[in-house]
Amino acid sequence: MRQHLRPFDSSAPLRLTAEKIASELSQNSYSVTDQFLSPDEFETLKDYVKKLKEEEHLKKAGIGKQQSFQIDREIRGDYIRWIDPQNEEEIFLPLLERMRILMDYLNRTCFLGLKDFETHVAYYPENTFYRRHVDRFQQNAHRVVSFVLYLNADWKPDDGGELVLYPTDDQLLEIAPVGGRLAMFLSDMPHEVLESYSGRYSITGWMLNQLKELTFL
Ligand code: OGA
Ligand code: MN
Repeated sequence: MRQHLRPFDSSAPLRLTAEKIASELSQNSYSVTDQFLSPDEFETLKDYVKKLKEEEHLKKAGIGKQQSFQIDREIRGDYIRWIDPQNEEEIFLPLLERMRILMDYLNRTCFLGLKDFETHVAYYPENTFYRRHVDRFQQNAHRVVSFVLYLNADWKPDDGGELVLYPTDDQLLEIAPVGGRLAMFLSDMPHEVLESYSGRYSITGWMLNQLKELTFL
């Protein structure tokens, strides 16, 4: 049966974007898409996430229970808040729905066995970074595809904060966190966030090969 996919906006039907992302991910293990959000959606989400940060709803992210706060800060400096799709502000629902459609499309075309996804809002204050790491490791073995949607209006090269992907040992790719841009990559690919010289906002998530409730078992 033909699926009806909801368009992002009149100019960029989701189906076309999903096709592009699937083919880039399968060829290169990463994909970058600009204007993933319509200008209205971008404004709405950007303002909301900024408000969450201003009202201090974001908390310092950790890297594991054993680590001290000091060590955490030398590795990653971001503040996060998880998004719970069961009990969420309506404002995130269109984006979450779109990520689910994209996930279903990746399953049908790339056979990744994706079942669910987890998402958080992230904010990097000035002069913070996230050292080179992978998103899929023993504690997060179910992460298959990572995605980051940037919410920075008027990002300039001097603002830093690039996402650097290392697809192979001799390859390096810098992606500026430009508003509306969606970066996706396989979660076992090494990557880092370079020092940001301006507050840096995003919505970051992981497509999982297991239902989210089960990953905590
Ligand atoms: C992460 C991460 C990349 C980015 O949160 O694990 O690598 O560009 N984020 O924010
Ligand atoms: Mn990461």
